[in-house]
Parts: sequence; C-alpha cells; structure tokens
Amino acid sequence: MSEQSADESEVLTILRGVMDPELGDNIVDLGMVRSAYIEDGTAHVTIALTTAGCPLRATIKRDCETRVSSLPEVSQVQLHWDELTADERTRVMERARANARETAAPTQIPARARVISVASGKGGVGKSSVTVNLATALASKGFTVGVLDADIWGFSIPRMLGVDSRLSARPAGSDEDRGKIVPDEKKEGAGLLKVVSTGLMVETEETALMWRGLMLAKAVEQFLHDVDWGEVDYLLIDMPPGTGDVQMALARLLPQAEMLVVTTPAVSAQKVAVRVADMARRSHMPILGVIENMSAFTTPDGASWPLFGEGGGERLAEEIGAPLLGSIPLEPAVSTGGDTGQPVASSGGRAGEIFHEVADRIVNEILPPINMADCSASSMTEVPVALPSE
Ligand SMILES: Nc1ncnc2c1ncn2[C@@H]1O[C@H](COP(=O)(O)OP(=O)(O)O)[C@@H](O)[C@H]1O
Ligand SMILES: [Mg+2]
Repeated sequence: MSEQSADESEVLTILRGVMDPELGDNIVDLGMVRSAYIEDGTAHVTIALTTAGCPLRATIKRDCETRVSSLPEVSQVQLHWDELTADERTRVMERARANARETAAPTQIPARARVISVASGKGGVGKSSVTVNLATALASKGFTVGVLDADIWGFSIPRMLGVDSRLSARPAGSDEDRGKIVPDEKKEGAGLLKVVSTGLMVETEETALMWRGLMLAKAVEQFLHDVDWGEVDYLLIDMPPGTGDVQMALARLLPQAEMLVVTTPAVSAQKVAVRVADMARRSHMPILGVIENMSAFTTPDGASWPLFGEGGGERLAEEIGAPLLGSIPLEPAVSTGGDTGQPVASSGGRAGEIFHEVADRIVNEILPPINMADCSASSMTEVPVALPSE
C-alpha cells in the first residue's frame, strides 16, 4: 500500500481506531488491512485475520463497520475477509510482542476495553451525572468499569461516586511500575468501578485555568500515560465540555473511543451539541448515541412538566444520525445522589431505571463488551507452536 489515494488514507486513518483486542494494537499498524478504498459510496475493506475462524471476528467486523460508515462519503461498507499467511502472522506477532515490551503507547488502556467518551456542548447539562450513573449501571451487571474524570476545569466524579479522591501511587515493587497512578476502586453489585480524576493533577482549580490550551493538553497526555487501569471492560470518560485543544488531544489519545453526546431538551443546547458531534467527526470518533437529560419532571400525581423544553434529544439524534439512547427525567434524586456519592442507578427511581435500560442497550446492542473467554484458540499462544509444522 505505497500509493494511497485520499480515500484510502482516510479509511485507514479511521481504521486505526479498530483494535485487535488480543494482539493489543490497531489492525492498521498490525498490518491486517490488505486494502481499503471507496467506490461509488461503498467502502471496500479487506482484512486478514490470524485465523479464519478468529473468535473476535464479530467484534472487529462491528468496529470496522461503525467506523468506516461514519465517514461522510461512505453510504455502505463491504468487508472482505482473508487469512494472514504464516510469514505475515510471524510479523504480526513480532510487532505485537515488541509493542508489549516497549509500551510506547500513549495510554495504558487495555486494547480490549470499550471506551466511551461522554461529551456535551456546554457545562451543566448533566454530563457527569450521566457518566457516573451509566458507569454504576454497567458495573452492577458485573463489569469492571473505569471512570476517567477528564473535565479538568469542572472535575466532580470522585465526589459523585463517593470514592476517596486521593490517588495512591503504586508502591515501587518493580521499576516499570514506579510512579504509576492506581485508580480508586468501588465495588458495585457484581462489578467494580475504577476511578481516576485529572482534577488531582492540579493543586487548585486556578492552576487548571492558568494552563490553557496545548500546555494543558500535554499535561493530560502525561497523566493518562501514567494511569495503570489494569483490566477494564468499559472505560467511561467525562470529557470537558466544548471543543478545544484538550478535547482534540483526548480524541487523538483515545483512538478507540466512541462518543456519547449529552444534551438537554432545549433547542439551544441541542445546537451547541451539534458542534461536539462535528468535532467527533473531524477526529474520526464514531458517535454511539445521544442521551437527553433533564427531560420532563413528573409530579407525584403524574403530571408531566417539560421545564427545560422538549424534543432536543430527538432532534439532535436525527441531525447527527445517531440513536437516542434514552431521556433521563428531571428528578431531585439525581442531584442529591450526586451530592451524597450514591448515584440513582444504584438506588432506584425512574431515572435510575432508565440508566439501566441505556446500559442494557449498550451491552446487548450498541457496544457489546469484548469477551476474551471466546479466545480459547488464542492466536498469541497458538501461532508460534503452529508455525514449524506449516
Ligand atoms: N436528571 C437530573 N435531574 C435533576 N438534577 C440533575 C439531573 N441531571 C443533572 N442534575 C443536576 O444538575 C447539575 C449539573 O449536572 P452535572 O452532571 O454536574 O453536569 P455537567 O457535568 O454537564 O456540568 C448537578 O447539580 C446535577 O446534580
Ligand atoms: Mg461535570
């Protein structure tokens, strides 16, 4: 693939967000993409897998389709499958092992983690409330869920989840672990939350305000590199509101992330949210869906009061071509739950139920977890053994 057309390089750029969870790198850099081009609105992508019966094929298929179809000039995606030759497999394995050794990766996010970046056009629409409740609902289903508070100017996640926000650096057991940041943990039902806040990077909020733009983006990059997440099924990121340098840097650092856009039902909020969706497109981040928050308040006698307007979520979803995953009603318990570190997703009520419905939809349909147990025929262990006989 020496001569690349503009189309091809665009498809390849977006495919860099597709990880081979077993090999721990993206399928482009691993050399698994044989060809990629767009013809009459149809993108043709040929991917060579380690074994034709690769159990992760369904995951890779879904991720390729979601990403490539988010390109504006693509209306259809045709995936073609191929198998790596023995030589190619050796090279892919070497590359994967070199990566594992050198870990030049900008973050320590495991390749099998599903990364959801929760974004909004402006602050105060309930982005953090959505992040903590969705994380709680996902964890209660038995998943290990990382939560990164990347809203450096308005960090609030540790308080909302009721975890101790003092980060502990791992005791220097081995050299490479020295200075790593270990997330705070909170058990949630059958699962686990792992929480890290960029708020801890700065002494005071004034520092964050002083370090603007690129300098802050650099600091966030260093911080992200130092977090040792361990195993996580999902990683939810509470993004800073808006579309500045830090947001763009985060998008670049998290090529596997997909965006969830939070908006209020008001038309004005929906308009601002469209800009975030534009940023997602520009940084090749697919949009998973929209969540409308602060929808109609229901009085105890059942009357519905749309205090912050109506229909913004639906309009936004339609405009950006992503599904509306849920409308969270205005409910005082959402607010008190945030203040007391007891998210409504763990304490009940209608809003709590809806967070669980959204989580179910994510797990079952929108962004299923990657089940490494399916990889009993692990190519990492099998290939070196298989090679001599081929
Ligand atoms: N559905 C809701 N019902 C009632 N209060 C809410 C709801 N969603 C958010 N809030 C409250 O609104 C305020 C802003 O929410 P927050 O999640 O901090 O927004 P953001 O992270 O977008 O700035 C908080 O006080 C929060 O408790
Ligand atoms: Mg917030």
